[in-house]
Amino acid sequence: MKGVQQYIIENRQRFLDELLEMLRIPSISADAKYKSDVARNAEYVAESLKNSGCSKVEIYPTGGHPIVYGEHTIDPTLPTVLVYGHYDVQPPDPLDLWESPPFEPVIKKTDIHPDGAIFARGSCDDKGQMFMHVKAFEAMIKNNALPCNVKFMIEGEEEIGSTNLGIFCKEYKDMLSCDVVLISDTSVIANDIPSITVGLRGLSYVEVEVTGPNKDLHSGVYGGAVANPVQILCDMIASMKDQQKHITIPGFYDDVVVVSDLERAAMNKAPFDKQKYLKGLGIDATMGEEGYTVLEQTSIRPTLEVNGIWGGYIGEGAKTVLPSKAFAKISMRLVPNQKSDTITALFKKHFEGIAPAGVKVEVRPHHGGEAAVTPSDTAEYKAAAMAMKTSYGKDPIPVRGGGSIPIVALFEKVLNVKTVLMGFGLDSDDIHSPNEHYGLYNFYKGIETIPYFYLYYSELKK
Ligand code: BES
Ligand code: MN
Ligand code: MN
Repeated sequence: MKGVQQYIIENRQRFLDELLEMLRIPSISADAKYKSDVARNAEYVAESLKNSGCSKVEIYPTGGHPIVYGEHTIDPTLPTVLVYGHYDVQPPDPLDLWESPPFEPVIKKTDIHPDGAIFARGSCDDKGQMFMHVKAFEAMIKNNALPCNVKFMIEGEEEIGSTNLGIFCKEYKDMLSCDVVLISDTSVIANDIPSITVGLRGLSYVEVEVTGPNKDLHSGVYGGAVANPVQILCDMIASMKDQQKHITIPGFYDDVVVVSDLERAAMNKAPFDKQKYLKGLGIDATMGEEGYTVLEQTSIRPTLEVNGIWGGYIGEGAKTVLPSKAFAKISMRLVPNQKSDTITALFKKHFEGIAPAGVKVEVRPHHGGEAAVTPSDTAEYKAAAMAMKTSYGKDPIPVRGGGSIPIVALFEKVLNVKTVLMGFGLDSDDIHSPNEHYGLYNFYKGIETIPYFYLYYSELKK
């Protein structure tokens, strides 16, 4: 391990330069305009893997964006780690809120990142974290210190639901066979409080359209008599949560696994500073489901959020208009046992049912995915915990995350393997927001920690 760590130190600057180059590629999977950039990024990942010493690398085209697959077998009798990550990013909008252009990475110091952080879309989610694995692998290969076999599966559609990766996993089940999946696409509590994510929420994402009159109308001539779709949509959305912030869709909570008081008590021992949380977000209070702490509200409880809402006149100045249509994008975060398809169907039935006379509504499902729990009593969890203990000098805390990585549930179902979520970002790194960044400390800490995971995992599997 000494040689590996020495190699990482000696190649620090080059590792960073290579990441910065990839961050200049606008690999926005959601926007068809960027299709060729997404493809270019796949090539960059494939080249990096080859240059790092991975013996077999291939780009698999899909119905959407390509999947980069790499394989390095040193001895078929040894365990195999499958590294998953994604090279696609969220749209950078709204652009005017970025302090520097999203695809022109710059390094700046912040209060939380006194050693500097890389500001760019994808720096933390997930190019920076995915690239740590490529470079940790390189360091092990170049020092003859790889203790097991490795497979890489780096996709370009995570941010749009991983639909084609699901198909790929089923089709290439044999090729992907492995003992464990290792992912860095989550966060730690703080740079001095390491943690390992032991759960992810599922997702059901829908778009709704409310149509009133067959054209935009003069709001004075018709207003007062004709249903206003924007107002109706607001009423309908408002009615989907009660005073206690429970979701009112019938059947929504039916399958929710009730977490024991013991487990709730344990998870609430994780360090959480409410004042700091409020201050960081510029708010004076939180607002969530009654009877649950913030940590619980953002991990073990399902939610419903409006991601965007539009309709009517939003240009400069005032225009008196009664709009014909209103739209919203709505997501629901799900917890274990809730089924994404079931929840989408419940939402659709309810939403159509509460539409008043005078409007028509349409519900269009987007992507979805199931929740996942990754237990903490496995060899892979222990290996990750030992690796973090070695690099941070502290035992990591197991925490359930609020975000979603839909493919994790599928890895378990299709490949029959468990996943370790050993992420190195911070919740304050502004992923999906303007000014996304990733601490240099976090980038290098990840590269330093990953080889220890391989070492301890291989030892524990002996
Ligand atoms: N890396 C995130 C998920 C994440 C972030 C999990 C932080 C835990 C902590 C991932 O790229 C992501 O953003 N996933 C999407 C889901 C997808 C289907 C659009 C999400 O959670 O919104
Ligand atoms: Mn991600
Ligand atoms: Mn993301």
